[in-house]
Amino acid sequence: MDWGMRNRMHRMFSPASGNTVMLAVDHGYFMGPTHHLENARATITPLLPHADALALTRGILRRCVDPTATTPIVLRVSGGATILQDDLSDEAITTRFADAARLNVSAVALSVFVGAPHEHESLVHLAELVDDGEEYGIPVMAITAVGKELEKRDARYLALASRVAAELGAHIVKTYYCEQFAKVVEACPVPIVVAGGPKLDSEKAALELARHAIDEGAHGVDMGRNIWQSAHPVAMLKALRAIVHEKATVGEAMDVLNEERTDAGTRAAAPA
Ligand code: R5P
Repeated sequence: MDWGMRNRMHRMFSPASGNTVMLAVDHGYFMGPTHHLENARATITPLLPHADALALTRGILRRCVDPTATTPIVLRVSGGATILQDDLSDEAITTRFADAARLNVSAVALSVFVGAPHEHESLVHLAELVDDGEEYGIPVMAITAVGKELEKRDARYLALASRVAAELGAHIVKTYYCEQFAKVVEACPVPIVVAGGPKLDSEKAALELARHAIDEGAHGVDMGRNIWQSAHPVAMLKALRAIVHEKATVGEAMDVLNEERTDAGTRAAAPA
């Protein structure tokens, strides 16, 4: 791996733990003004100092993130379909690689839709992006998108999608946690990070998901809604860091969450 590529990977993945806590705020590219991300700048600003990387689109990066920020950027470069369409897989590359380089990003990200109508196009986009990534020294993160078909989130499907992405040259794979997740990790020779998915019933449930994912071999999380839709987003992010970087148990992470709750970092009444 070339120096630039290695340097960017190390900026995102802690050399000490080998893991990363990415903050995902790219949902608007197909979901529009997602709950609690309507004002992206207001959501991102307090969380940014506590994230190892920030995953978003170039529009939100340019308009809602101060250019003095030092947090590594993972730039989503695929899009073109919204939740108003039945087929979410009809995506194109929506940002030229030169613009990603101009934005000084640490990685680019795209969705791959294995098993969906536009599987072929999304996989070719990944391969082409990897060619550019190798040329510029910028890692490519493949996101194993499942569209609206949530039942696809099983180990057999996610292992297939993750392995295909790695075979085509992805440097990082983002996928979902599932039962028998270790099988997904075992078959994927590049670091895997897990998304959180829709907001779970409690912060504890999201912390348990992260704990299980790390225990079964994930190198971190790329989580959104379970952080910024929490009543305590900053405390939640710090609790996740304890799990991902410090081997904290869920109980210890809950202690962090409770200790870090402050009026300033709270948007609603504390959950029971
Ligand atoms: C999909 O919209 C994006 O790739 C998100 O970044 C991804 O789903 C992670 O966010 P969440 O934890 O909210 O699922």
